[in-house]
Amino acid sequence: MNKIPVWFDTDIGVDDAVAFLVLHRQPELEVVGISAVSGNVGLEHTYPNARNICHLVGARYPVYKGADRPLYAEVEHASYVHGEEGLGGARLESSPAPHESEAAWDALYRTAVEYGGELQVLAVGPLTNIAIALAKYPALKTLIKRLLIMGGGAARGNTTPAAEFNIYADPEAAQLVFKSGIPIVMCGLDVTLQGYLTAEEIEEIGGHEGAVCRFFRDATVSVLPFYHKANQPGLCVHDVCPVLYMTHPEIFGGQPCGVYVETQGKITCGKTVTDLWSDKKFPDRHVFAVLEMDREAFVREIRKAILSY
Ligand code: RIB
Ligand code: CA
Repeated sequence: MNKIPVWFDTDIGVDDAVAFLVLHRQPELEVVGISAVSGNVGLEHTYPNARNICHLVGARYPVYKGADRPLYAEVEHASYVHGEEGLGGARLESSPAPHESEAAWDALYRTAVEYGGELQVLAVGPLTNIAIALAKYPALKTLIKRLLIMGGGAARGNTTPAAEFNIYADPEAAQLVFKSGIPIVMCGLDVTLQGYLTAEEIEEIGGHEGAVCRFFRDATVSVLPFYHKANQPGLCVHDVCPVLYMTHPEIFGGQPCGVYVETQGKITCGKTVTDLWSDKKFPDRHVFAVLEMDREAFVREIRKAILSY
């Protein structure tokens, strides 16, 4: 089977970490590079978190340092959700792997050229790295076959009433990426809020033997109270959605649409404005908005991946 080459761009926080653990166990996918970006917490944490979670599972993926701040916006973190270092109550052993000297955007472009237009990109944090790469290398937009993001939302926000965190944290980067013309699968809050793990599911999965299950439990249990306080039925593992969309699209549903990212609004800055439910459509409609999922199947695939370690 020809594996799909995948680049993973992440502000590795708790749900990013679960997404990585699921991604690493998808036989159809081959991770060819990982880039860290400032988002949930600062790059001083997201970069080592990415290196150290590779070390946890024995993966030798190259991990590159990306942007430590948004293009223009003020730095915005979510340590109130993910904890000071981004992994909730979990701690990871430091990776002994040598550090990569290339910047994320340079490595992403070099890799996209190497894979001759077959590279697919999973971006589950603010889109700063992707935007910088596109600005520095305009040809990149023809070399990324598909970009699958966790970000945005047609109907609501989670950082403001209008905006989801990844887009709100760097709206200019998001607008640049959405206007690049690259085919985008947008897993916004419309679907990711359906992708929750209950306390019972976390305990059942995390209660199994092994360092990965222990890490999974330590990372997720500590974030549950945040979601319960927000009247959510469980921990939303937002970033797992684009990963499982790649290998199990059958458990999701959605619609093609056009998306514009608001960057000027006082109240609506960071909103992904879609033409899903309006008769006025945007001229370019190269986004597929994922809007629903079969949660049972979603949790089943997460459980299968975590218990496979
Ligand atoms: O809004 C949820 C998104 O913001 C997720 O990617 C989470 O990891 C944070 O980055
Ligand atoms: Ca994330």
